Amino acid sequence: LADTYFLFSGLIGRSWAMVFASGGFKVKLYDIEQQQLKSALENIRKQMKEMEESGSLKGPLSAEQQLALISVCTDLKAAVEGATFIQECTPENLELKKKIFGQLDLIVGDNVILSSSTSCLLPSKLFTGLKHVKQCIVSHPVNPPYFVPLVEIVPHPETDPSTTERTYALMKKIGQSPVKLNREIEGFVLNRLQYAVISEAWRLVGEGVISPTDLDLVMSDGLGMRYAFIGPLETMHLNAEG
Ligand code: NAI
Repeated sequence: LADTYFLFSGLIGRSWAMVFASGGFKVKLYDIEQQQLKSALENIRKQMKEMEESGSLKGPLSAEQQLALISVCTDLKAAVEGATFIQECTPENLELKKKIFGQLDLIVGDNVILSSSTSCLLPSKLFTGLKHVKQCIVSHPVNPPYFVPLVEIVPHPETDPSTTERTYALMKKIGQSPVKLNREIEGFVLNRLQYAVISEAWRLVGEGVISPTDLDLVMSDGLGMRYAFIGPLETMHLNAEG
């Protein structure tokens, strides 16, 4: 496949790069730090080689073939050249991300998708006012995306439905497990569920119902095992009398 992708090279950017390369896509990693790019490439090589040896490398290509798909770049314009999908992975800082998307907005064409890895910034905060807002979307991964397939796809109110569909199809193609939110909401869905559990955990421990150690065991040796296979709605559906 000849498509080019473009990312940033921190923790999440590296993992995304590996996911896209495993799906046979060309990846360009961009960063403001040359050193960061160098260590990203070294780190990716090490991880891929280790996984190849242990038989856990994803995709039909060898580690060398996948590594050959990944290149690095410190020039934004050169990095986006030819890209069809751009996954932004800069630190979780609204002003910084707005600046990056503002720069991208000036140099990209009408067909590229601008996607953010943000964990909690709403698309309406990130993308409002951009000329290419119809092409903007959040694709929120779970760390590390190479091993955890879920991606929450969250559109801006003005995102074109074709942007959502293309992003969804792409995530499927690279072996991720995308879910679509119909509209933006604080915390998206994963973190809303996570924080509901965390709040109740604090309450039960705080009120002296259970010790912290035992509270964690309820999840790791009980509820968590179930939820690793089926979600809460399917659990209720399959329950007795259900
Ligand atoms: P990180 O700090 O590891 O990586 C950030 C990268 O951005 C670094 O390589 C840094 O050199 C680069 N950078 C900084 N300023 C820049 C600029 N002006 N232009 C270009 N590159 C710049 O951060 P991490 O953990 O990879 O997070 C990235 C995004 O992914 C954040 O939005 C975060 O919320 C999201 N995310 C993180 C998860 C996690 O568990 N770490 C999980 C899901 C999403």
